[in-house]
Amino acid sequence: MVMNYDMMKTAQRKYNFDLYYRSIDMINKLHFEMIKLYSGDVKRIQHFCKVHSYAKLIAEMENIDIDTLFIIETAALTHDIGIHCCEEKYGSCNGKLQEKEGPAIAKRLLADLHFEEQVSERVQYLIAHHHTYDDIDGIDYQILVEADFLVNLCEDELSIQAIEQAYKKIFRTDSGRKLCREMFHLDF
Ligand SMILES: [Fe+2]
Repeated sequence: MVMNYDMMKTAQRKYNFDLYYRSIDMINKLHFEMIKLYSGDVKRIQHFCKVHSYAKLIAEMENIDIDTLFIIETAALTHDIGIHCCEEKYGSCNGKLQEKEGPAIAKRLLADLHFEEQVSERVQYLIAHHHTYDDIDGIDYQILVEADFLVNLCEDELSIQAIEQAYKKIFRTDSGRKLCREMFHLDF
């Protein structure tokens, strides 16, 4: 059968639709696996759920393309994946140790869930750098850091001065800045 233009457009739409739902399905599976991995550690489960929610919100408000959104969501769910390993191995879960231990654990989990190698590699890079703020090299990295800050600024009960400082130093996207200003009622 020879396809005419309308048939091709319909097929393309269906293909995009299938891809979109396949992405949602993969993210939901990863989300549940992360909850299983952190089983019983409800505070940390809620931490990554919040970071995922804000990362997705910022990305969608910024009209980020669907492939980058997929990387952002995957990284937001897994960004602290090294935390339990660090506690067992070093008795500490500081940011640098998490950056060191997290990528290998994420690599195994993402391979088990059949995430593409290219996605996994970028996510491992983001996990390995998400506490490093002086060399942010992409919008996925920027949004992950902003979402993590939105949650940590509240969870760590920081002073308004510290929040204002973080706002000026960290937040770069219009949507992240808007959310931060509204959330903490900043007077800028
Ligand atoms: Fe975090």
